[in-house]
Amino acid sequence: MALLDVSNLSIHFGGVKAVQNVTFSIDAGIVYSVIGPNGAGKTTLFNLITGVYTPTAGEIRLDSESIQGKSPNELAERGMARTFQNLQVCMNMTAIENVMVGAHLRLDRNMLKAALRLPSLRARDNELRQEAAELMRFVGLERFIDARADSMPYGALKRMEIARALAMKPRIIFLDEPAAGLNPKETIEVDQLVRKVADSGVTVVLVEHDMKMVMNLSDRILVLDYGKKLAEGTGEEIRRNPDVIAAYLGAHA
Ligand SMILES: Nc1ncnc2c1ncn2[C@@H]1O[C@H](COP(=O)(O)OP(=O)(O)O)[C@@H](O)[C@H]1O
Ligand SMILES: [Mg+2]
Repeated sequence: MALLDVSNLSIHFGGVKAVQNVTFSIDAGIVYSVIGPNGAGKTTLFNLITGVYTPTAGEIRLDSESIQGKSPNELAERGMARTFQNLQVCMNMTAIENVMVGAHLRLDRNMLKAALRLPSLRARDNELRQEAAELMRFVGLERFIDARADSMPYGALKRMEIARALAMKPRIIFLDEPAAGLNPKETIEVDQLVRKVADSGVTVVLVEHDMKMVMNLSDRILVLDYGKKLAEGTGEEIRRNPDVIAAYLGAHA
C-alpha cells in the first residue's frame, strides 16, 4: 500500500495552470524525486501536498486517508516535514536553536497534555537540546552547534534545515532543492545525507536539479513539464524516455 496517493491534482492561479491533473503514488521507505524545468510546478506540488495551497481539483491521501484541507500543522502531526527552496533560517539564533524550533513545533501540539503533567520546562528544554544536538551530529554539523546561523556557510545552513525538519520526527520529508547553490563537495555531502535519512526509515521526496544526485538516489522519478506529468518511472526508464530527453534531460546533458 502506498504511503502517499496523489490523484488528478490541479491548481490554477488565475490563468496559470501550475499543476494539471497530476497522479502518482509513493511507497513508504523509498526516495522519490520530482524533476522538471523551472516553472514546471515542482514547488507548487510540494505546497499542495503539505497543505500550504488548497487544490483546485484532485485528491491527496496519506495512508489511504484523505488529507484534503488539512493545515500544514495538522499534516506535520501526521508525519510530514519539509524544507524550502529558499533558506528559512532565524539568522540571529544559534544553529541548535534553529533545530530546536522543529522539535518545539512537534511538542507544542501536545502542549495541553504537557501542561496537565506540569513538567519542568527546563527539563523539557534540556531534552530538546540533546535531541537537536544529536540531529546536528547526524547531518554532520557538530562543529556548528553553538554557532550563530549568520556566521555559518550557506551549505551548512541547508543541512541545518534538514536537521530542523527531522526534529519533527517525520515519516515523510519533502526536500525542495537541498543542493541548490552548493559547490560540488557540499552537493556530495547532501547526497550522502539524503541517503542516510532514507536509510533511517524516513520516506524522502526530493526536488533537485543535480541529475547525478537524482539518478544516484532515486527509486522512482516523476517528471513535470508545464504543470503536467510528462513521465514517471525508475531512473533508467526516465533516462531513456524520449519525451523527457526532449523536454528536459537533453538540455541538462
Ligand atoms: N502563489 C502563486 N501565485 C501565482 N502563480 C504561482 C504561485 N505559485 C506558483 N506560481 C506559478 O506556478 C508555476 C510553477 O511554479 P513552481 O511550482 O514554483 O515551479 P518549479 O518549482 O517547478 O520551478 C509558475 O508559473 C509560477 O509562476
Ligand atoms: Mg521550485
